[in-house]
Amino acid sequence: MKILDGKLLSKKIKEEIKLEVDGFLSNGYRAPHLVAVLVGEDPASKFYVKSKMKSCEQVGFRSTNMVVDKSITQLDLLSIIGDLNKDQGVDGYIVQLPLPEHLDVDIVLEAISPDKDVDGFHPVNMGKLILGLDTFVPATPLGIIEIIKRYNIPTEGKDVVIVGRSNIVGKPMSICLSQKGYPGNSTVTIVHSRSKNIEEKLKQADIIIAAIGKPNFVKEHMVKEGAVVIDVGINRVEDSSKKSGYSLVGDVDFDNVAPKCSYITPVPGGVGLMTVTALMINTLKSYKKKYEFE
Ligand SMILES: NC(=O)c1ccc[n+]([C@@H]2O[C@H](COP(=O)([O-])OP(=O)(O)OC[C@H]3O[C@@H](n4cnc5c(N)ncnc54)[C@H](OP(=O)(O)O)[C@@H]3O)[C@@H](O)[C@H]2O)c1
Repeated sequence: MKILDGKLLSKKIKEEIKLEVDGFLSNGYRAPHLVAVLVGEDPASKFYVKSKMKSCEQVGFRSTNMVVDKSITQLDLLSIIGDLNKDQGVDGYIVQLPLPEHLDVDIVLEAISPDKDVDGFHPVNMGKLILGLDTFVPATPLGIIEIIKRYNIPTEGKDVVIVGRSNIVGKPMSICLSQKGYPGNSTVTIVHSRSKNIEEKLKQADIIIAAIGKPNFVKEHMVKEGAVVIDVGINRVEDSSKKSGYSLVGDVDFDNVAPKCSYITPVPGGVGLMTVTALMINTLKSYKKKYEFE
């Protein structure tokens, strides 16, 4: 069994990005610039934005954390988005989700210019993904793709079972792995809360991608010998041995599943870090498009 080390891989990719950015700077170009719009004070959202800003610093990007009050109206938020769309000094931006209930997430995401939509959630970018056109792949699937590519995990003809059909993970991941080419050419099944015989389907899988948000859902008896297991889940469970009172676990019962796998991602230290790194990849891509380096 081999660990798919998201920490190590993130470090390596970030070093590669930093080298590229240093090259741009030494040739007189400005640094790539990522903006995060944070609506309100949700502690998890604050944590995620902070880690994105920290990654920007590590790769030499400029970053701006734009914090707005949680009572902001839809119109005012759309006005901020309009300004970011026009700002030539911004290469990409994200509106951190979830949004307070009074805001319509679909309208907000659609207002983001597809050219700056480094989260890849805009319908135009999702459409391009389905058509196999060049686009911003949403950060979590892109991070998983990088893991697969960099560990040379074969995907052609493989049976992949993705647990979870969210717009940000399960659905786009299924598109990526069923595309022609590498990583892709897989036979993908998506299961969700209404699926029958999930255990049977998982047992057939060469590659399992778990993204449901249920701690330790995927158990040893559901995984075949030699499977590749990618755990997207980030769940807080009570843990009195920790100072914080909780620990983070994935959707996979790691300790018991790992010995059966050929490869597995840990939680933490797997997909989560790669998701942030993938956002850096998308921001660099946007910047390079603007200056026609691509
Ligand atoms: N590592 C990262 O960077 C990263 C990024 C994003 C999310 N996450 C984590 O990944 C997990 C999933 O996130 P998400 O946003 O994709 O989730 P989500 O939007 O909550 O969707 C969960 C999916 O799991 C399905 N599901 C729930 N219970 C199930 C069950 N008992 N059996 C089968 N399917 C079930 C749901 O089915 P229905 O559609 O039928 O409701 C839904 O499709 C969470 O732990 C989240 O924190 C991690």
